[in-house]
Amino acid sequence: MNVYDAARMTDLLAQEGYAEADREEDAELVVLNTCHIREKAAEKIYSELGRLAEIKKERRAEGRNIEIVVAGCVAQAEGELVMRRQRAVDLVVGPQSYHRLPALLKEARRGARVADTDFAAREKFQTLPAPTRAQIAARGVSAFITVQEGCDKFCSFCVVPYTRGAEISRKVEPVVEEARRLVDAGVREITLIGQNVNAYRGEDEAGRATPLEGLFERLSAFEELERLRYTTSHPVDMTQGLIDAHGSLEKLAPFVHLPVQSGSDRVLKEMNRRHDARHYLDVVEKLRRARPDIAISSDFIVGFPGETGEDFEATLALIDAVGFASSFFFKYSPRPGTPGAERADQIHEETKRDRLARLEARVEAQRRDFNAAMVGRTVEVLFEKRGRHHGQIAGKSPYLQAVHVDGGEREIGRLRPVKIVAAGPNSLSGEIVEALELA
Ligand code: 5AD
Ligand code: SF4
Repeated sequence: MNVYDAARMTDLLAQEGYAEADREEDAELVVLNTCHIREKAAEKIYSELGRLAEIKKERRAEGRNIEIVVAGCVAQAEGELVMRRQRAVDLVVGPQSYHRLPALLKEARRGARVADTDFAAREKFQTLPAPTRAQIAARGVSAFITVQEGCDKFCSFCVVPYTRGAEISRKVEPVVEEARRLVDAGVREITLIGQNVNAYRGEDEAGRATPLEGLFERLSAFEELERLRYTTSHPVDMTQGLIDAHGSLEKLAPFVHLPVQSGSDRVLKEMNRRHDARHYLDVVEKLRRARPDIAISSDFIVGFPGETGEDFEATLALIDAVGFASSFFFKYSPRPGTPGAERADQIHEETKRDRLARLEARVEAQRRDFNAAMVGRTVEVLFEKRGRHHGQIAGKSPYLQAVHVDGGEREIGRLRPVKIVAAGPNSLSGEIVEALELA
Protein backbone atom coordinates (compact mmCIF):
# COMPACT_ATOMS: atom_id res chain seq x y z
CA MET A 1 0.00 0.00 0.00
CA ASN A 2 2.94 2.32 0.52
CA VAL A 3 3.73 1.94 -3.18
CA TYR A 4 0.18 3.00 -4.01
CA ASP A 5 0.29 5.90 -1.53
CA ALA A 6 3.62 7.10 -2.94
CA ALA A 7 2.11 7.13 -6.44
CA ARG A 8 -0.89 9.14 -5.23
CA MET A 9 1.37 11.64 -3.47
CA THR A 10 3.40 11.96 -6.67
CA ASP A 11 0.22 12.62 -8.70
CA LEU A 12 -0.88 15.22 -6.17
CA LEU A 13 2.46 17.02 -6.17
CA ALA A 14 2.59 16.91 -9.97
CA GLN A 15 -0.46 19.20 -9.89
CA GLU A 16 1.62 21.62 -7.85
CA GLY A 17 4.33 21.69 -10.48
CA TYR A 18 6.64 19.04 -9.06
CA ALA A 19 8.22 16.40 -11.27
CA GLU A 20 9.82 13.17 -10.11
CA ALA A 21 13.61 13.48 -9.79
CA ASP A 22 15.65 10.50 -10.88
CA ARG A 23 18.42 11.28 -8.44
CA GLU A 24 18.27 12.55 -4.88
CA GLU A 25 20.88 15.23 -5.69
CA ASP A 26 18.35 16.86 -8.03
CA ALA A 27 15.46 16.82 -5.57
CA GLU A 28 14.13 19.92 -3.83
CA LEU A 29 11.66 17.87 -1.83
CA VAL A 30 12.09 14.39 -0.39
CA VAL A 31 9.13 12.45 0.98
CA LEU A 32 10.01 9.40 3.06
CA ASN A 33 7.02 7.11 3.05
CA THR A 34 7.56 5.03 6.13
CA CYS A 35 6.53 1.69 7.65
CA HIS A 36 5.91 1.04 11.34
CA ILE A 37 4.99 -2.64 11.21
CA ARG A 38 8.23 -3.87 12.81
CA GLU A 39 10.88 -2.04 14.79
CA LYS A 40 13.55 -2.60 12.15
CA ALA A 41 11.52 -0.87 9.45
CA ALA A 42 10.66 2.03 11.75
CA GLU A 43 14.21 2.63 12.98
CA LYS A 44 15.67 2.57 9.48
CA ILE A 45 13.96 5.89 8.92
CA TYR A 46 16.10 7.73 11.46
CA SER A 47 19.38 6.73 9.86
CA GLU A 48 17.97 7.81 6.52
CA LEU A 49 16.88 11.13 8.04
CA GLY A 50 20.35 11.65 9.48
CA ARG A 51 21.77 11.34 5.99
CA LEU A 52 19.21 13.77 4.56
CA ALA A 53 19.95 16.24 7.38
CA GLU A 54 23.58 16.31 6.20
CA ILE A 55 22.46 17.06 2.65
CA LYS A 56 20.24 19.83 3.98
CA LYS A 57 23.18 21.37 5.82
CA GLU A 58 25.35 21.30 2.69
CA ARG A 59 22.55 22.82 0.62
CA ARG A 60 21.98 25.57 3.16
CA ALA A 61 25.67 26.47 2.96
CA GLU A 62 25.14 26.91 -0.79
CA GLY A 63 22.05 29.04 -0.22
CA ARG A 64 19.68 26.28 -1.38
CA ASN A 65 17.30 23.99 0.44
CA ILE A 66 15.91 20.49 0.43
CA GLU A 67 12.55 20.03 2.10
CA ILE A 68 12.13 16.84 4.10
CA VAL A 69 8.72 15.26 4.64
CA VAL A 70 8.08 12.16 6.72
CA ALA A 71 4.88 10.41 5.60
CA GLY A 72 3.38 6.98 6.31
CA CYS A 73 2.85 5.01 9.47
CA VAL A 74 5.94 6.13 11.42
CA ALA A 75 4.66 9.67 10.91
CA GLN A 76 1.26 8.57 12.19
CA ALA A 77 2.58 6.71 15.22
CA GLU A 78 5.25 9.19 16.31
CA GLY A 79 3.85 12.50 15.06
CA GLU A 80 5.78 15.50 16.36
CA LEU A 81 8.30 13.22 18.00
CA VAL A 82 9.79 12.66 14.54
CA MET A 83 10.57 16.38 14.30
CA ARG A 84 11.98 16.43 17.80
CA ARG A 85 14.26 13.50 17.06
CA GLN A 86 15.40 15.02 13.77
CA ARG A 87 15.26 18.81 13.55
CA ALA A 88 15.84 18.79 9.78
CA VAL A 89 12.33 17.39 9.18
CA ASP A 90 10.01 20.10 7.82
CA LEU A 91 6.73 18.26 7.87
CA VAL A 92 5.11 15.09 9.23
CA VAL A 93 2.00 13.70 7.52
CA GLY A 94 0.09 10.51 8.28
CA PRO A 95 -1.27 7.97 5.78
CA GLN A 96 -4.85 9.28 6.01
CA SER A 97 -4.10 12.97 5.55
CA TYR A 98 -1.48 13.14 2.78
CA HIS A 99 -4.05 14.62 0.39
CA ARG A 100 -3.42 17.86 2.33
CA LEU A 101 0.28 17.88 1.40
CA PRO A 102 0.16 21.01 -0.80
CA ALA A 103 -1.45 23.13 1.94
CA LEU A 104 0.79 21.63 4.62
CA LEU A 105 3.90 22.40 2.59
CA LYS A 106 2.79 26.02 2.35
CA GLU A 107 2.34 26.19 6.11
CA ALA A 108 5.74 24.62 6.69
CA ARG A 109 7.31 27.18 4.36
CA ARG A 110 5.85 29.94 6.47
CA GLY A 111 7.94 28.54 9.29
CA ALA A 112 5.38 26.39 11.12
CA ARG A 113 6.41 22.93 12.26
CA VAL A 114 3.48 20.94 10.98
CA ALA A 115 2.38 17.44 11.93
CA ASP A 116 -0.94 16.32 10.45
CA THR A 117 -2.02 12.89 11.68
CA ASP A 118 -5.79 13.17 11.29
CA PHE A 119 -7.77 10.13 10.25
CA ALA A 120 -9.44 11.58 7.19
CA ALA A 121 -9.46 8.55 4.90
CA ARG A 122 -12.79 9.30 3.18
CA GLU A 123 -11.85 12.91 2.53
CA LYS A 124 -8.52 11.66 1.19
CA PHE A 125 -10.06 9.46 -1.49
CA GLN A 126 -12.55 12.15 -2.46
CA THR A 127 -9.93 14.82 -3.01
CA LEU A 128 -6.91 13.02 -4.48
CA PRO A 129 -6.41 13.80 -8.18
CA ALA A 130 -6.39 11.04 -10.78
CA PRO A 131 -3.06 10.27 -12.43
CA THR A 132 -2.51 11.31 -16.04
CA ARG A 133 -2.24 8.73 -18.83
CA ALA A 134 1.50 9.34 -19.01
CA GLN A 135 1.91 8.79 -15.28
CA ILE A 136 -0.05 5.54 -15.44
CA ALA A 137 1.86 4.29 -18.47
CA ALA A 138 5.20 5.05 -16.82
CA ARG A 139 4.25 2.81 -13.88
CA GLY A 140 3.78 -0.29 -15.97
CA VAL A 141 1.07 -2.76 -16.90
CA SER A 142 0.37 -4.00 -13.38
CA ALA A 143 -1.22 -1.54 -10.97
CA PHE A 144 -2.68 -1.34 -7.48
CA ILE A 145 -5.95 0.18 -6.35
CA THR A 146 -6.64 0.68 -2.66
CA VAL A 147 -10.26 -0.32 -2.08
CA GLN A 148 -10.22 -0.76 1.67
CA GLU A 149 -8.12 0.79 4.39
CA GLY A 150 -7.57 0.36 8.07
CA CYS A 151 -8.35 -2.51 10.33
CA ASP A 152 -10.75 -3.29 13.18
CA LYS A 153 -9.28 -6.68 14.03
CA PHE A 154 -6.72 -5.62 16.64
CA CYS A 155 -4.42 -8.62 16.51
CA SER A 156 -2.42 -8.25 19.70
CA PHE A 157 0.94 -7.91 17.91
CA CYS A 158 -0.09 -5.38 15.26
CA VAL A 159 0.09 -1.58 14.99
CA VAL A 160 -2.05 -1.29 11.87
CA PRO A 161 -5.37 -0.50 13.62
CA TYR A 162 -3.58 2.40 15.35
CA THR A 163 -1.63 3.72 12.36
CA ARG A 164 -4.07 3.21 9.47
CA GLY A 165 -7.16 3.70 11.63
CA ALA A 166 -10.60 2.13 11.50
CA GLU A 167 -11.71 0.00 8.61
CA ILE A 168 -13.28 1.86 5.68
CA SER A 169 -14.31 0.66 2.22
CA ARG A 170 -14.35 2.93 -0.81
CA LYS A 171 -17.56 3.09 -2.81
CA VAL A 172 -17.87 0.87 -5.87
CA GLU A 173 -18.16 3.59 -8.53
CA PRO A 174 -14.95 5.53 -7.80
CA VAL A 175 -13.04 2.25 -7.75
CA VAL A 176 -14.50 1.21 -11.11
CA GLU A 177 -13.70 4.68 -12.45
CA GLU A 178 -10.10 4.44 -11.23
CA ALA A 179 -9.80 1.02 -12.89
CA ARG A 180 -11.23 2.36 -16.15
CA ARG A 181 -8.57 5.07 -16.30
CA LEU A 182 -5.84 2.55 -15.60
CA VAL A 183 -7.05 0.14 -18.28
CA ASP A 184 -7.48 2.95 -20.82
CA ALA A 185 -3.84 3.92 -20.24
CA GLY A 186 -2.56 0.37 -20.80
CA VAL A 187 -2.81 -1.39 -17.43
CA ARG A 188 -3.56 -5.10 -17.86
CA GLU A 189 -3.45 -6.38 -14.29
CA ILE A 190 -5.04 -4.78 -11.23
CA THR A 191 -4.41 -5.79 -7.65
CA LEU A 192 -7.06 -4.57 -5.25
CA ILE A 193 -5.42 -3.77 -1.96
CA GLY A 194 -6.40 -3.21 1.64
CA GLN A 195 -5.08 -4.15 5.06
CA ASN A 196 -8.09 -6.42 5.28
CA VAL A 197 -9.14 -6.41 1.67
CA ASN A 198 -11.62 -9.25 1.89
CA ALA A 199 -13.54 -7.37 4.58
CA TYR A 200 -14.40 -4.93 1.76
CA ARG A 201 -18.05 -3.85 1.77
CA GLY A 202 -18.41 -0.86 -0.52
CA GLU A 203 -21.64 0.89 -1.39
CA ASP A 204 -22.79 0.68 -4.99
CA GLU A 205 -24.88 3.35 -6.75
CA ALA A 206 -28.06 2.00 -5.21
CA GLY A 207 -26.52 2.13 -1.75
CA ARG A 208 -26.18 -1.66 -1.52
CA ALA A 209 -23.19 -3.11 0.33
CA THR A 210 -21.04 -4.86 -2.25
CA PRO A 211 -18.49 -7.53 -1.31
CA LEU A 212 -15.06 -7.87 -2.93
CA GLU A 213 -16.28 -10.45 -5.46
CA GLY A 214 -18.85 -7.87 -6.59
CA LEU A 215 -15.98 -5.54 -7.47
CA PHE A 216 -14.22 -8.35 -9.33
CA GLU A 217 -17.37 -8.96 -11.36
CA ARG A 218 -17.54 -5.30 -12.33
CA LEU A 219 -13.85 -5.12 -13.24
CA SER A 220 -13.97 -8.39 -15.19
CA ALA A 221 -16.11 -6.56 -17.73
CA PHE A 222 -13.15 -4.45 -18.89
CA GLU A 223 -12.19 -6.42 -21.94
CA GLU A 224 -8.56 -5.34 -22.07
CA LEU A 225 -7.98 -6.11 -18.41
CA GLU A 226 -6.36 -9.54 -18.29
CA ARG A 227 -5.93 -10.27 -14.62
CA LEU A 228 -7.25 -9.44 -11.18
CA ARG A 229 -5.60 -10.02 -7.84
CA TYR A 230 -6.16 -8.95 -4.24
CA THR A 231 -4.19 -8.64 -1.06
CA THR A 232 -4.13 -8.97 1.97
CA SER A 233 -6.91 -11.21 3.23
CA HIS A 234 -7.93 -12.36 6.69
CA PRO A 235 -9.05 -16.00 7.08
CA VAL A 236 -12.18 -14.96 8.99
CA ASP A 237 -13.42 -12.78 6.10
CA MET A 238 -12.90 -15.47 3.45
CA THR A 239 -16.57 -15.84 2.56
CA GLN A 240 -18.06 -18.56 0.39
CA GLY A 241 -18.94 -15.87 -2.16
CA LEU A 242 -15.31 -14.87 -2.57
CA ILE A 243 -14.19 -18.50 -2.62
CA ASP A 244 -16.76 -19.26 -5.34
CA ALA A 245 -15.49 -16.30 -7.38
CA HIS A 246 -12.22 -18.19 -7.76
CA GLY A 247 -14.18 -20.91 -9.54
CA SER A 248 -16.30 -18.65 -11.72
CA LEU A 249 -14.27 -15.56 -12.62
CA GLU A 250 -11.74 -16.37 -15.29
CA LYS A 251 -9.67 -13.24 -14.75
CA LEU A 252 -9.27 -13.74 -11.02
CA ALA A 253 -5.76 -15.15 -10.56
CA PRO A 254 -5.53 -18.54 -8.82
CA PHE A 255 -3.45 -17.15 -6.00
CA VAL A 256 -4.38 -16.01 -2.49
CA HIS A 257 -2.16 -14.39 0.09
CA LEU A 258 -3.75 -15.57 3.32
CA PRO A 259 -1.66 -14.90 6.42
CA VAL A 260 -2.08 -17.43 9.22
CA GLN A 261 0.70 -16.11 11.54
CA SER A 262 0.82 -19.30 13.66
CA GLY A 263 -0.38 -22.91 13.58
CA SER A 264 -0.95 -23.14 17.34
CA ASP A 265 -4.52 -22.60 18.51
CA ARG A 266 -3.27 -21.33 21.84
CA VAL A 267 -1.04 -18.71 20.20
CA LEU A 268 -3.70 -17.78 17.66
CA LYS A 269 -6.07 -17.08 20.54
CA GLU A 270 -3.50 -14.94 22.33
CA MET A 271 -2.80 -13.13 19.09
CA ASN A 272 -6.54 -12.36 18.96
CA ARG A 273 -6.71 -13.80 15.47
CA ARG A 274 -10.36 -14.93 15.84
CA HIS A 275 -9.71 -18.25 14.03
CA ASP A 276 -7.98 -21.51 14.82
CA ALA A 277 -5.78 -23.76 12.69
CA ARG A 278 -8.79 -25.92 11.70
CA HIS A 279 -10.64 -22.91 10.33
CA TYR A 280 -7.62 -21.93 8.26
CA LEU A 281 -7.23 -25.45 6.84
CA ASP A 282 -10.95 -25.53 6.01
CA VAL A 283 -10.69 -22.26 4.08
CA VAL A 284 -7.72 -23.62 2.13
CA GLU A 285 -9.65 -26.79 1.33
CA LYS A 286 -12.66 -24.82 0.11
CA LEU A 287 -10.45 -22.63 -2.07
CA ARG A 288 -8.88 -25.72 -3.59
CA ARG A 289 -12.28 -27.23 -4.24
CA ALA A 290 -13.36 -24.06 -6.04
CA ARG A 291 -10.12 -23.76 -8.01
CA PRO A 292 -7.93 -26.88 -7.85
CA ASP A 293 -4.74 -25.17 -9.07
CA ILE A 294 -4.99 -22.31 -6.57
CA ALA A 295 -1.71 -21.36 -4.85
CA ILE A 296 -1.63 -20.09 -1.28
CA SER A 297 0.95 -17.89 0.41
CA SER A 298 1.13 -16.75 4.01
CA ASP A 299 2.80 -14.60 6.65
CA PHE A 300 4.24 -16.14 9.80
CA ILE A 301 5.38 -14.67 13.08
CA VAL A 302 7.75 -16.69 15.27
CA GLY A 303 8.41 -15.95 18.92
CA PHE A 304 5.14 -14.30 19.88
CA PRO A 305 5.19 -13.90 23.71
CA GLY A 306 4.68 -17.24 25.44
CA GLU A 307 5.22 -19.30 22.27
CA THR A 308 6.49 -22.73 23.37
CA GLY A 309 8.46 -25.27 21.38
CA GLU A 310 5.23 -27.21 21.05
CA ASP A 311 3.39 -24.18 19.68
CA PHE A 312 6.14 -23.70 17.14
CA GLU A 313 5.92 -27.37 16.09
CA ALA A 314 2.20 -26.82 15.47
CA THR A 315 3.13 -24.03 13.04
CA LEU A 316 5.51 -26.35 11.19
CA ALA A 317 2.75 -29.00 11.08
CA LEU A 318 0.34 -26.50 9.55
CA ILE A 319 2.95 -25.57 6.95
CA ASP A 320 3.29 -29.25 6.04
CA ALA A 321 -0.47 -29.68 5.90
CA VAL A 322 -1.05 -26.74 3.54
CA GLY A 323 1.96 -26.68 1.21
CA PHE A 324 2.54 -22.99 0.52
CA ALA A 325 3.67 -21.55 -2.79
CA SER A 326 5.64 -18.85 -0.96
CA SER A 327 5.65 -17.12 2.40
CA PHE A 328 6.90 -14.18 4.40
CA PHE A 329 8.22 -14.86 7.89
CA PHE A 330 9.12 -12.53 10.72
CA LYS A 331 10.48 -12.56 14.24
CA TYR A 332 7.94 -11.09 16.61
CA SER A 333 8.74 -7.42 17.14
CA PRO A 334 7.11 -5.77 20.19
CA ARG A 335 5.29 -2.67 19.00
CA PRO A 336 4.49 0.27 21.26
CA GLY A 337 0.86 0.43 22.33
CA THR A 338 -0.01 -3.15 21.37
CA PRO A 339 -1.04 -5.72 24.03
CA GLY A 340 1.72 -8.15 22.96
CA ALA A 341 4.41 -5.64 23.84
CA GLU A 342 3.17 -5.42 27.45
CA ARG A 343 3.60 -9.10 28.14
CA ALA A 344 6.24 -10.33 30.56
CA ASP A 345 6.80 -13.63 28.71
CA GLN A 346 8.76 -12.25 25.75
CA ILE A 347 10.78 -14.85 23.87
CA HIS A 348 14.58 -14.66 23.81
CA GLU A 349 16.12 -13.29 20.66
CA GLU A 350 18.16 -16.45 20.18
CA THR A 351 15.08 -18.68 20.33
CA LYS A 352 13.34 -16.41 17.82
CA ARG A 353 16.34 -16.62 15.53
CA ASP A 354 16.45 -20.44 15.71
CA ARG A 355 12.74 -20.77 15.06
CA LEU A 356 12.86 -18.33 12.18
CA ALA A 357 15.69 -20.31 10.56
CA ARG A 358 13.77 -23.59 10.92
CA LEU A 359 10.57 -22.05 9.57
CA GLU A 360 12.41 -20.42 6.71
CA ALA A 361 13.96 -23.76 5.71
CA ARG A 362 10.52 -25.36 5.67
CA VAL A 363 8.69 -22.73 3.63
CA GLU A 364 11.63 -22.15 1.28
CA ALA A 365 11.71 -25.89 0.52
CA GLN A 366 8.01 -25.70 -0.31
CA ARG A 367 8.60 -22.72 -2.56
CA ARG A 368 11.39 -24.53 -4.42
CA ASP A 369 9.19 -27.62 -4.83
CA PHE A 370 6.32 -25.48 -6.06
CA ASN A 371 8.59 -23.75 -8.60
CA ALA A 372 10.21 -27.02 -9.70
CA ALA A 373 6.78 -28.56 -10.31
CA MET A 374 6.14 -25.87 -12.92
CA VAL A 375 8.79 -27.25 -15.28
CA GLY A 376 7.09 -28.79 -18.30
CA ARG A 377 3.82 -26.96 -17.65
CA THR A 378 2.40 -24.24 -19.86
CA VAL A 379 1.04 -21.22 -17.99
CA GLU A 380 -0.16 -17.79 -18.97
CA VAL A 381 2.40 -15.08 -18.34
CA LEU A 382 1.63 -11.38 -18.29
CA PHE A 383 4.74 -9.62 -19.58
CA GLU A 384 5.66 -6.53 -17.62
CA LYS A 385 9.13 -5.34 -18.59
CA ARG A 386 12.43 -5.98 -20.31
CA GLY A 387 14.47 -8.79 -18.77
CA ARG A 388 17.92 -8.52 -17.28
CA HIS A 389 19.62 -9.76 -20.45
CA HIS A 390 19.34 -8.33 -23.92
CA GLY A 391 16.45 -9.83 -25.89
CA GLN A 392 14.73 -11.05 -22.75
CA ILE A 393 11.41 -10.00 -21.31
CA ALA A 394 10.01 -10.69 -17.87
CA GLY A 395 6.54 -11.20 -16.51
CA LYS A 396 4.51 -13.03 -13.89
CA SER A 397 2.83 -16.41 -13.87
CA PRO A 398 -0.71 -16.70 -12.47
CA TYR A 399 0.95 -17.79 -9.21
CA LEU A 400 3.01 -14.60 -8.94
CA GLN A 401 6.26 -16.25 -9.99
CA ALA A 402 8.72 -14.18 -12.03
CA VAL A 403 9.14 -15.70 -15.52
CA HIS A 404 11.84 -14.82 -18.09
CA VAL A 405 11.66 -15.65 -21.77
CA ASP A 406 13.42 -14.65 -24.98
CA GLY A 407 11.08 -12.27 -26.70
CA GLY A 408 10.44 -8.85 -28.16
CA GLU A 409 9.27 -5.81 -26.26
CA ARG A 410 6.02 -5.82 -28.20
CA GLU A 411 4.93 -8.66 -25.89
CA ILE A 412 4.98 -6.31 -22.89
CA GLY A 413 1.40 -5.87 -21.72
CA ARG A 414 0.32 -9.14 -23.30
CA LEU A 415 -0.79 -12.37 -21.69
CA ARG A 416 0.87 -15.27 -23.49
CA PRO A 417 1.10 -19.02 -22.95
CA VAL A 418 4.61 -19.94 -21.83
CA LYS A 419 6.08 -23.39 -21.50
CA ILE A 420 8.28 -23.44 -18.41
CA VAL A 421 11.64 -25.06 -19.11
CA ALA A 422 13.65 -24.35 -15.96
CA ALA A 423 13.14 -23.23 -12.35
CA GLY A 424 15.81 -21.16 -10.60
CA PRO A 425 15.76 -20.09 -6.95
CA ASN A 426 13.89 -16.83 -7.63
CA SER A 427 12.41 -17.13 -11.08
CA LEU A 428 11.34 -19.45 -13.85
CA SER A 429 12.40 -19.43 -17.45
CA GLY A 430 10.36 -20.56 -20.40
CA GLU A 431 9.40 -20.22 -24.03
CA ILE A 432 6.40 -18.51 -25.52
CA VAL A 433 4.30 -21.13 -27.28
CA GLU A 434 1.54 -20.59 -29.78
CA ALA A 435 -0.81 -23.33 -28.67
CA LEU A 436 -3.07 -22.46 -25.80
CA GLU A 437 -2.77 -25.94 -24.35
CA LEU A 438 -2.52 -24.87 -20.77
CA ALA A 439 -1.68 -27.66 -18.41
N1 5AD B 1 6.14 -8.42 14.63
C1 5AD B 1 6.45 -9.21 13.58
N2 5AD B 1 5.70 -9.29 12.47
C2 5AD B 1 4.58 -8.55 12.41
N3 5AD B 1 3.64 -8.44 11.46
C3 5AD B 1 2.71 -7.55 11.88
N4 5AD B 1 3.04 -7.08 13.10
C4 5AD B 1 4.20 -7.70 13.45
C5 5AD B 1 5.02 -7.66 14.61
N5 5AD B 1 4.71 -6.89 15.65
C6 5AD B 1 3.65 -9.20 10.23
C7 5AD B 1 2.42 -10.11 10.12
C8 5AD B 1 1.60 -9.43 9.06
C9 5AD B 1 2.69 -8.81 8.20
C10 5AD B 1 2.25 -7.72 7.30
O1 5AD B 1 3.63 -8.33 9.13
O2 5AD B 1 2.83 -11.39 9.71
O3 5AD B 1 0.78 -10.32 8.34
FE1 SF4 C 1 -2.81 -6.25 11.73
FE2 SF4 C 1 -3.85 -7.80 9.76
FE3 SF4 C 1 -4.42 -8.31 12.36
FE4 SF4 C 1 -5.44 -6.13 11.16
S1 SF4 C 1 -5.86 -8.33 10.66
S2 SF4 C 1 -4.54 -6.22 13.21
S3 SF4 C 1 -3.73 -5.54 9.80
S4 SF4 C 1 -2.38 -8.46 11.33
